[in-house]
Amino acid sequence: MGERTFLGLDLSTQQLKAAVCDDGLHIAHEVAVTFETDLPEFRTHAGAIIDKADNRNVSAPVLMWVKALDILMDRLTLDGVDFSKIAAVSGTAQQHGSVYWQKGAEESLKNLKSSDFLHQQLLNSFAVANTPIWMDSSTTKQCQQLENAVGGPMELAKITGSRAYERFTGSQIAKMHQTKPDAYRTTERISLISSFLCSLFLGKIAPIDYSDGSGMNLMDIHTKKWNQTLLDACAPNLPEKLGEPVPSYAEVGAVSKYYVERYNFNPDCRVIAFTGDNPASLIGMKLNEGWVAVSLGTSDTVLLWLTEPLIVVDGHVLCNPVDKDAYMALLCFKNGSLPRDRLKKTIASDSWEIFNELLESTPRGNFGNIGLFYDIQEIIPFLQGEYRYNKAGKVCKFTSLEVEVRALIEGQCLRNRVYAEDFGFKIDKNTKILATGGASKNKAILQVLADVFNAPVYVQEAANSAMFGSAYQAKHGLMYKDTKTYIEITSTLPDPELICVPYKDAAEIYDPMLARYKTILQELTKN
Ligand code: ADP
Ligand code: XUL
Repeated sequence: MGERTFLGLDLSTQQLKAAVCDDGLHIAHEVAVTFETDLPEFRTHAGAIIDKADNRNVSAPVLMWVKALDILMDRLTLDGVDFSKIAAVSGTAQQHGSVYWQKGAEESLKNLKSSDFLHQQLLNSFAVANTPIWMDSSTTKQCQQLENAVGGPMELAKITGSRAYERFTGSQIAKMHQTKPDAYRTTERISLISSFLCSLFLGKIAPIDYSDGSGMNLMDIHTKKWNQTLLDACAPNLPEKLGEPVPSYAEVGAVSKYYVERYNFNPDCRVIAFTGDNPASLIGMKLNEGWVAVSLGTSDTVLLWLTEPLIVVDGHVLCNPVDKDAYMALLCFKNGSLPRDRLKKTIASDSWEIFNELLESTPRGNFGNIGLFYDIQEIIPFLQGEYRYNKAGKVCKFTSLEVEVRALIEGQCLRNRVYAEDFGFKIDKNTKILATGGASKNKAILQVLADVFNAPVYVQEAANSAMFGSAYQAKHGLMYKDTKTYIEITSTLPDPELICVPYKDAAEIYDPMLARYKTILQELTKN
């Protein structure tokens, strides 16, 4: 088995990506399919369909993801991957979205003909063609119902790790049952997007894993079982439709014969449970205590390793994907790349270089100006719109493009710190930040992050932490029974690289700004 390799997949909002790593977890192959450009027939914008009549409804076509897998497998073949060497496969996907398998779908999965594409054979396998994804925020009513069922937001957070959030799967399933009862009735099984992708490799419906299962508002994160009161409040027959959840590193079976016959996979290749992109990022970043992981992708997220399941109202506690006794904290902000890309396009001639020139031509602290930009409905705080304040705390218009750009980046970094501290995270001289995601390439942005947190910022070689995390999980899942921890498994990887350190006066500038930012937030969220 000296030459064995590991396959990791990542079905994110905009792309389906895959990496093959060798036994030392070094990258051997990397390919991607971009939904908007490679699959224009599905007419998504960056992988999503936003309802014109009500922009709170956001979905994606399930068949687009299936077709993307067909293309991805061809691209891996063209890249020269020897599938017979893959010892295990795992994967990750955008969290919270749900897939509704039509009655008879599992039979189709078991009897896939290796001569045909998956998308041709699974055409009639989905009860809902466009399925809700994490960007959806249309289920406020169903959130209320879930919280009421257990005695309020705090009680729900105690059980499931989060109060009710619109994008979480429980309220989405409840809405599906209420608004499309026929589709719900013909649904044989419900998968998360991660377990849906896993099912395509397994040739049967794959179980939901504990970490991604923690993003549903339905699972008790302490016992790792579904909470019956919540299932009942959500929709009928859920235990059968959801199946029992499993540990994120569980081996769930051998790869389906479809892959053996069509791509020459080894019939012994193991499938390890697939999980959510944030838990997979935690693995890909080899995160442990003392580090704050900040992912600057389509959404901005902050991840922390937790030894105890804290109870918070803003943010989420998820089961840890590599350690059965540990947890992780997740903060997710929808307005990450969206307003950054908007300003780059509208005022920086669509160039990150010009964007950075604007950012760097204004002094740190931005003359006391603070901006909060929510292009789309934000998750925390639940706000939309643009809010600008001057030094005196008055609502204002900014006087230059430079001030606008700095206000956006400083505002986003202040937000990350305020909510991480709300989680009980203590920033001290040992704190280190690990940045990842598309914008972690941008040193000017990372410098602001370092100054606002008054902590050094590191990046790692393998920038796509979720995808690589799933390749590492493939090996971890395979070796788990030999009691290999994920730290041992990933010890072959290089240490993160230091990119910037805070300026000496960082605390002097940003501590007062942090206090002002908190006051502004309190004002804006008063009701
Ligand atoms: P996803 O969350 O879908 O996996 P990525 O992590 O790949 O997405 O991030 C995509 C985003 O990265 C783009 O929307 C773009 O705004 C951002 N990006 C790419 N290069 C830069 C850069 N040099 N500076 C800032 N942002 C960048
Ligand atoms: C996390 C969240 C997003 C998605 C898409 O709660 O909604 O980060 O996982 O990346």
